[in-house]
Formats: sequence, C-alpha cells, structure tokens
Amino acid sequence: MSYYRILGFDKEPFSTSPDPEFFYSSREHERALTNVLIELRLKRGLSVVLGDVGTGKTTLSRKLIQDLKMREDCLFHIMLDPVFESNALFLQSLVRNFGIIGEPPAQPFTITELREKLERFLFQKGIVENKTVILIIDEAQKLNEISLEALRVLLNYETNQFKLLQLVLLGQSELMQTLRGIPNFLDRISFKTLLSPLDYTEMKEMIYFRIKQAGYQSKMDLFLEEALREIYQFTHGYPRKVTMMCHRALKEMLLKNKLVVDREIVKGIIEDEVHAGWQTADSLLQKSSF
Ligand SMILES: Nc1ncnc2c1ncn2[C@@H]1O[C@H](COP(=O)(O)OP(=O)(O)OP(=O)(O)O)[C@@H](O)[C@H]1O
Ligand SMILES: [Mg+2]
Repeated sequence: MSYYRILGFDKEPFSTSPDPEFFYSSREHERALTNVLIELRLKRGLSVVLGDVGTGKTTLSRKLIQDLKMREDCLFHIMLDPVFESNALFLQSLVRNFGIIGEPPAQPFTITELREKLERFLFQKGIVENKTVILIIDEAQKLNEISLEALRVLLNYETNQFKLLQLVLLGQSELMQTLRGIPNFLDRISFKTLLSPLDYTEMKEMIYFRIKQAGYQSKMDLFLEEALREIYQFTHGYPRKVTMMCHRALKEMLLKNKLVVDREIVKGIIEDEVHAGWQTADSLLQKSSF
C-alpha cells in the first residue's frame, strides 16, 4: 500500500508533477495568471513569465491551459521543449501542431510557404472565426535566436486592433538576458513577471492546500511549526524543494512510527542531503534542485 494511503490521502499530496489540481494560488502565481489571461482576452500579443528553477512555471502553464480549455473562443498549443535547429523546423512544428497540415508533404514546404500557411490560418481563425489563437512555450529559455526571430515575425501579424497570435513564454531567468539582446522583441512584451519563491506563510498555506487537495480529512496537523520553520530555512520557499522535502518528511514520519513531522525528521533529511553531497548547508539559494 502506498505511503499516502496509509496516512489517509486519496492521492499523493507531494507529487512533483505539475498537476493543476494542486496549484496553490500564491500572490505572485495569481497575479501572473490573472494578467496573462487579461492579455489574452485583449489579444495584446506577448506575455513572459520568468522564474528560477522550480518556482512553478510549468504548473502555472497547466493551470492556464485548464482555464483555456473551458473557453470555446480559444485555440491553443503548448510547446514543451522548444529546441529547433532551423527556422523551417520551427515553422513546420507550428504548422503541424496547430493542425494546419496533416501528413507531412512529399516535398517539404519552403519557409515562405510555411509562413503563408500560418498567416492564412491566423487570419481565418482570428478574423473570420473570431477565435484567439494562443501559443504557450514552456522552457522558453531554450529558444534560439532563429526561433525567436520566427516568433517576432508571427507577432507582426495583426489587425488595427489586435495581434493574430497570442504568445505566452515561460522560462528561467536567463531568458530575460537573451531577450534584452533583441530590443525589437523586448519591445513587444505587453506583460512580464518574475516568479519569486514563496514567503513563509505562503509556503505553509501551499503545504496545507496540497494536503487538503489530496483528500486528507483528519483535523490533526501533519507538520509541527518547528518542522515547517526548518523546511523554510532549507528550501527558502522554492515550491519544488518544499514539495520534495514534504514528500520525504511524510515517508520518514511513517518509517519512524511518528504521528507528526517534527524538527528532528526534517533535520535528519537535511543532514542526509548534505552528507550525500547533494547540498551544502548554505547552498540553498543556488539554482540546484534536489
Ligand atoms: N503554485 C503552486 N502550488 C502548488 N505546487 C506548486 C506550485 N508551484 C510549483 N509547485 C510544485 O513545485 C514543483 C515544481 O514546479 P514546476 O515544475 O512548475 O516548476 P518550474 O518553474 O516549471 O521548474 P523548472 O524551471 O525546473 O522547469 C512541482 O511539484 C509543483 O507541483
Ligand atoms: Mg518547468
């Protein structure tokens, strides 16, 4: 039997997958989501969400998709690993994933043909059918200059009132460095935000929100305040680090036959990490995930 069932959960409370059901609306996550949705509604073109490793960008994108799926006027595609060696490959991927062409043609389309197909598609959907066409790109720090230039061209397709393609980029902070080097791309950003780690209160709320979402019904708190303080000191509120620590702490609690996670359990895990060389006691502001 899984450890979480023994503890009375229906689902794993601290899985590291970006499940939107476990999305806790921290102040910054909420602000990012609301603003991206506003930009999409206004069809203003380009939104950028930045954040360090494990701050919740992918989870936020899943939450965004969950919201968009309920809107019939939206048509979207999410790119998870935007690594393309050439402009043609990048455009081909867009054309295929937006369902503009089915089977690959015998003769590959030229870049001009691919651009024309995309432009016609954006015109048809955006103007004739009045839909919002959205491209969400996760791990956007991996986009190379060629792909960014292709996106810039697509962002130029517009009517007098709105852009025909809405673009949401989510990426690690180095994306900003790249974009700073392309002023005519930077200029087109209509909303940008940087996700910071959670503060102590939010971290605690996220932990209890996830516990509740996983179906825990008992009134008894699973984490002592002293343990939460220790977790915060160790993780600095980075959601992935918090999630992984809580997962390990609950398993450790079971192994030790305890009813609650106390400081000793958390300290034991931290010592293991440091001992195994995965972390140094003061390395936690670095971008490593554990
Ligand atoms: N707002 C949130 N509410 C609940 N859990 C969250 C939240 N943000 C992140 N998490 C949890 O933290 C972990 C990491 O989140 P996520 O994968 O979204 O981070 P990321 O910013 O995309 O990281 P990376 O830069 O490595 O791609 C996941 O387990 C996710 O469930
Ligand atoms: Mg991610």
